[in-house]
Amino acid sequence: MPLFLGGEQNHVKLNVIENQMKQEKIAVIGSGNWGSVSAKLVAENALSCPYYHDEVRMWVYEEILPSGEKLTDVINNTHENVKYLPNINLGLNVVADPELHNAVKDATMLIFVTPHQFVEGICKRLQGNVRHDAKAISLIKGMEVKKDGPCMISSLITEILGIECCVLMGANIANEIALEKFSEATIGYRDDKKAAEKWGELFSKSYFHVNIVNDVEGVELCGTLKNIVAIAAGLVDGLQMGNNTKAAIMRIGLREMRVFSKLIFPSVRDSTFFESCGVADVITTCLGGRNRKVAEAFARHDGQRSFDELEAELLQGQKLQGVSTAAEIFEVLKARKWEEQFPLFTTVHKIATGILPVNAVVKYSEHAPRMVVEAAAQYY
Ligand SMILES: NC(=O)c1ccc[n+]([C@@H]2O[C@H](COP(=O)([O-])OP(=O)(O)OC[C@H]3O[C@@H](n4cnc5c(N)ncnc54)[C@H](O)[C@@H]3O)[C@@H](O)[C@H]2O)c1
Repeated sequence: MPLFLGGEQNHVKLNVIENQMKQEKIAVIGSGNWGSVSAKLVAENALSCPYYHDEVRMWVYEEILPSGEKLTDVINNTHENVKYLPNINLGLNVVADPELHNAVKDATMLIFVTPHQFVEGICKRLQGNVRHDAKAISLIKGMEVKKDGPCMISSLITEILGIECCVLMGANIANEIALEKFSEATIGYRDDKKAAEKWGELFSKSYFHVNIVNDVEGVELCGTLKNIVAIAAGLVDGLQMGNNTKAAIMRIGLREMRVFSKLIFPSVRDSTFFESCGVADVITTCLGGRNRKVAEAFARHDGQRSFDELEAELLQGQKLQGVSTAAEIFEVLKARKWEEQFPLFTTVHKIATGILPVNAVVKYSEHAPRMVVEAAAQYY
């Protein structure tokens, strides 16, 4: 946006000054439902703040639509992601780019927002192609399980790209934020408070309030683990168990989230569970959201149709996170012999893989008597 109009020479000079002020260039890596909404949100703020380049590049995993057109062409012509966020204008300054390296070229602020299973491959492709002083933030819910234990997505990004990575999680069903309905989110950071504040400034809107906490693992684990609780809530809905049962599942789930997080990272703070990324996200994903929806359908079919089949049918390209996260967490629980301490997480995985019947979700304590080991007892 020009600072001042008047006189050809002055105009040119002011454009030069303005471009020098624009120190930050934003790239969004991912363009699904939340990817598109987050691009819209930061693009609005980029336009109104002189420190940011107006254009926000959004990397799109290219797809050919049923019309035969490329998704990127349609986004750039209509300013709408017709597949993952129909009927919402992303803004003229969001530019879809199918070339990953081109999308991040010269970017100083990288927003990672793809389904978690694709992140490692994307980061490897980006190795050596991002600015060494770039800052990253992950909006991704999920984790990778390596031989030596769980690896949070923010750590994976830092390890592969050698750049700091904050996280943003919260009670954020993307379609509601797209309609500018009031929501809150939590940014977690490890060392770089200034970077976290900058991210907070970039994401804040009158309808989107961001709180910043010094607990990157706590925030990220909340965002990741709540998807397992949402699967359990969906099963309960499918079984038509009612509100008391669902509230019980949410409470037990939140407790397992807290105990697991503190066992894996003792630095995790209790207060984080009272932020938007904690209890608020558990509530919203257990009431709405895709994990709950597909799990409800799974229970209604009494486990006879697989999660993969229902995901493809009900989500049309969007990805479910809760089932794969339950499998990843189960790997950790098995390796550390913690299954009995986490009966809800264990049961959700066993139901999703057909080992237990759907109604085990409300009988889990019978299948997994709770024998709280010493290490966990302090957190109960
Ligand atoms: N949608 C929400 O309400 C919401 C809210 C908060 C957080 N999140 C998290 O945000 C992350 C991204 O979710 P989303 O909702 O933007 O995506 P989505 O599930 O709506 O869409 C899937 C995306 O993955 C892409 N994709 C498919 N195959 C791929 C491949 N091989 N490589 C790379 N990309 C591929 C698709 O093109 C599409 O952009 C997830 O971790 C999710 O948990 C989502």
